Amino acid sequence: MRYDQPMSDPISSKPQLASSTGGLPSAVGWSQLLLTDRLRPGDAVVDATAGNGHDTLFLASLVGPQGRVWAFDVQEAAVLETRRRLTEAGFGETCAVIHAGHETMRQKLPEAFHGRLRGIMFNLGYLPGSDKSIITRTETTLQAVASALDLLADGGLLTVAVYPGHDGGADEQRQIAEWAASLPSRRYEVQLFLPINRSASPPECWVVWKRPV
Ligand SMILES: C[S@@+](CC[C@H](N)C(=O)[O-])C[C@H]1O[C@@H](n2cnc3c(N)ncnc32)[C@H](O)[C@@H]1O
Repeated sequence: MRYDQPMSDPISSKPQLASSTGGLPSAVGWSQLLLTDRLRPGDAVVDATAGNGHDTLFLASLVGPQGRVWAFDVQEAAVLETRRRLTEAGFGETCAVIHAGHETMRQKLPEAFHGRLRGIMFNLGYLPGSDKSIITRTETTLQAVASALDLLADGGLLTVAVYPGHDGGADEQRQIAEWAASLPSRRYEVQLFLPINRSASPPECWVVWKRPV
């Protein structure tokens, strides 16, 4: 360290991927941190739950103009908002925002990219500020994460932010946990980022790394 430089205040200078309180990353923050570490310009990636497009834009910025991004959402308003956000940021050409459930990912992605995706991000639950009855559903979520693993490249990363606090969220969380624990360790490394000293049902982040064979 050079001593002639002002030292930054470790409390007031908030890390970029801190939670809203400035503390440890949220479930999505962990996803972003790990994807930032591993994605490179030119990579092909999927945002499985586009919502307002924040995560899609985050992915598009990481993979850049040479990369490819596919984003999915079942809500038309989410698709339109995500397209608007991407176009405004100059990523309209490299990203396809698909108005369909993520469980159709395999059919919707060009075959040339099957097994070639470097990152796939799920941010489950409902879209804050919109209709809370439109949530991800356990059955389709499980179909989608299973096909996501097939579509992932060797060395690719799948992240799943899970919100057990809303109606149906606890069941989705339980079944994602069972699915994740059942993945063969020869092929997949799985980790869980979970706040453990908070009130009930904190959001959690599952991360699956597909081992190269
Ligand atoms: C927590 S929000 C996503 C937030 C978003 N990533 C962002 O950056 O704003 C969850 C989204 O999942 C969408 N969703 C629900 N079921 C879905 C499905 N089967 N396939 C794709 N998206 C779905 C909802 O419409 C909602 O927009």
